[in-house]
Amino acid sequence: MSDQQPRIVVLISGQGRNLQAILQAVQAGKIPARIAAVISNKPEAGGLAHARNAGVPALTILHAGFASREAFDEALAMEIDRHQADIVVLAGFMRILSDGFIRRYKGRLLNIHPSLLPKYPGLKTHQRALDAGDAEHGATVHFVTEELDGGPCIIQGQFSVAPHDDAPKLAERVMNEVELKIYPQAVAWMAQRELVLQQDSVYFRGGRLTAPLSLQNLEPEFR
Ligand code: GRF
Repeated sequence: MSDQQPRIVVLISGQGRNLQAILQAVQAGKIPARIAAVISNKPEAGGLAHARNAGVPALTILHAGFASREAFDEALAMEIDRHQADIVVLAGFMRILSDGFIRRYKGRLLNIHPSLLPKYPGLKTHQRALDAGDAEHGATVHFVTEELDGGPCIIQGQFSVAPHDDAPKLAERVMNEVELKIYPQAVAWMAQRELVLQQDSVYFRGGRLTAPLSLQNLEPEFR
């Protein structure tokens, strides 16, 4: 990373609520970084409009146009590198990335997942938490490694599941009560160089994390 403010590229596929929260935190001066570009693999992704409204370059790379996953990932990486990204943020990017791509950005590639990892990697996390009768549910920000939704956890936010919570209600609660708080916070810590991935361990402000950070660790401006 250069001495200047780090440059962030955000990858999306959908609505972009996490992207919007990150854009707003940058605009409010809570994240000392510049969003250099937003890239979607879907032209209809609502998040593209959030980027353009914020004056951030927004583009689509259609995976259908590529012969293989590796070829798509190579095009994606070229675009990320053209924008000189120091940090790459996956915010609802619904494509599995190749090992080569992940290795290229390891230590500066973040993802958010709507479950309390290691529980429920993959899809339909809210329904799976309900089916299991979980008393607690939430979301996790983690460094991305070659294992799907399996990289070292940075911060997890959780809450008690209420008796009337169904899957859509849980999804909304996870988004509003957890995701929109922990992701801007984690990106801010990255931008401030307070998070380091070393040999698959997370170091926060120099100390190795033995458990993920939690909602209690949010700085006041991210609560
Ligand atoms: C979020 O629930 C995130 O955890 C998951 O995809 C969803 C993206 O939502 N990876 P949005 O595009 O940020 O609105």
